[in-house]
Amino acid sequence: MSKEYQPVHGVWTSRWVFVLAAAGSAVGLGNIWKFPYIAGDYGGGAFVLVYLICIALVGIPIMIAEIGLGRHGGLSPIHTMSKLVRDNEVSRKWTGVGFLGALSGFLLLTFYSVVAGWALYYVWEMGSGALDKASPEEVKAAFDGLLASPWVLLGWHTLFMVLTMGVVAHGVEKGLERAVRFLMPSLLVILLILLGYAINSGGFTQGLEFMFTFDFSALGAEGILAAMGQAFFTLSLGLGAIMAYGAYMPRQITTPGGETKHVSIGSTALIIAVLDTAVAMIAGLAIFPVVFANGLEPSQGPGLIFVTLPLAFGQMPLGLFFGTLFFLLVSFAALSSSISLGEPLVAWLVENEWSRRAAATLIGGTAWFIGIGTVLSFNVWSDATLGGNTFFDILEFTVSNIMLPLGGLLIAIFAGWIMKEPRIRKELAMQKFGVYMVWRALVRVVAPLAVLAVFVHTLWDTFGG
Ligand code: PFF
Repeated sequence: MSKEYQPVHGVWTSRWVFVLAAAGSAVGLGNIWKFPYIAGDYGGGAFVLVYLICIALVGIPIMIAEIGLGRHGGLSPIHTMSKLVRDNEVSRKWTGVGFLGALSGFLLLTFYSVVAGWALYYVWEMGSGALDKASPEEVKAAFDGLLASPWVLLGWHTLFMVLTMGVVAHGVEKGLERAVRFLMPSLLVILLILLGYAINSGGFTQGLEFMFTFDFSALGAEGILAAMGQAFFTLSLGLGAIMAYGAYMPRQITTPGGETKHVSIGSTALIIAVLDTAVAMIAGLAIFPVVFANGLEPSQGPGLIFVTLPLAFGQMPLGLFFGTLFFLLVSFAALSSSISLGEPLVAWLVENEWSRRAAATLIGGTAWFIGIGTVLSFNVWSDATLGGNTFFDILEFTVSNIMLPLGGLLIAIFAGWIMKEPRIRKELAMQKFGVYMVWRALVRVVAPLAVLAVFVHTLWDTFGG
C-alpha cells in the first residue's frame, strides 16, 4: 500500500488569483512572438479562426480536465495521479502521467530560462541606449554577439533561474500568488501602452492586414496542425503545470456577503483561455505596426523580437523607452510561465518532507545545470549536432512536439475514459447537464483524436518521410 500524502501547500486566496496564476502560466513567449508570426504566415484571419476552434474544441476541454484532476487530487501532479489511481482502482501505470508531466515541465524549464534570459538582456540593452539609432547590421551583430558568448548567456540564464526559484521557494501564497498579483496586471498595462503606441505609429492598418486578412490558400493542413500545436502550448497543457495549480484551487469560496459559492472549473478555464487569446492578439497588434512603420519585413521566431523589433524601436521617437517596456513585458510573461514549470516537482519534494527552499534549490540548480547544454548549443557546441540538430533543437522538439501532446492525450483519456464518471462529474459540478455532456464528448472523442492527428503527423514528418 503506498503512502497517503496530505495537501500541504495551501490554496489560492481567491478564484481570481487562480485565474491570474493560470493565465500567467499560459501567457508567455508563445503568445508574444510565436502566435503573431504564425498567424501572419498561415493566412491571417483564416489561421486565427482555426486556432480559435482548436482552443474551443480541444484546448478548453483538456484544460478543464487538467484542472479537475488537479483539484480532485489536491497534490503535486505525481501524487495527484497516484491518489487518483488508488481511488479509482485502475492500473498503477497511470501514475506515469504525473511523472511524464513533471519531467516535461522540468525539461521545458531548462531551456525556457535561457531564452527568457535573452529578454532580460534586452531590457538592459534597450534601457542603456546601446541600440539607439543602430543600423540593421549593428542590431543583428548585437544578437549574434549575445548568442556567441556563453558567459553572457549563462549570466542571464542564471539570473532568470534565480528569480524563478526565488518565487517558487516562497510557496503558494507568499511566492506564486504575490508574484502573479504583481506581474499580470503590470503585463496588461504595459501591453495596452504598447498597443496605444503602435496605433499611433503609422503602420497600424498594415499590421491589422497582416494578421487578419483571410487567406485560406495559405492555411493548408500544415497551418491547421500548427494551430493545434499552438493552442496546446499556449494554454500550458499536458505537462502538469495547470494540474499543480488546480490543486491549489478552492472548491468553495465565501463571498464578502458571507454566502458560500461553488468555484466552477468550466467557466474559470474559459476565462483563462479568453485572456490568453486576447493577449496573443493584442501582442500581434502591438508588434507588427512598429515593424511596418519602419518598412521592415517581419521575420520568424527569435529574429522578430530580438532583431527586427529592436531595430524598429531604435528608429522611432521614444523608441528606447517603449522598447525597454516591451522587453520588460516579455520578461514578466516568461517569469509568470516559468514559475509554473518549477512548481510541480518542487511541490512533490515538499510533500516528501523537503523544505521548500531546499527543494527549489535542488530543482532550480539541476535545471540550471542542464540549461548549460542549451547555452552551449548556440556557440561552443553549435557544430556538435545530430542530424543537423543541436542539443537545444533536440530537447525543444522532444518536449514541445512529443512529450506535451502525449501528456495532453493521456490526461484527456484518463479524465474521459478511466476515472470513475461520477467522481469527475462531481468535481466539475457543471450546472447544466447539457454542457457537461458536451465537455465529455469533446474530452473523450474530439480532443484525443485531434491531438493524435497532430502527434502522428509530427512523428511521420520526422521519422517516416
Ligand atoms: N504557455 C507558455 C507560453 O505560451 O509561452 C509556455 C508554457 C508554460 C507551456 C508553462 C507549458 C507550461 F507548463
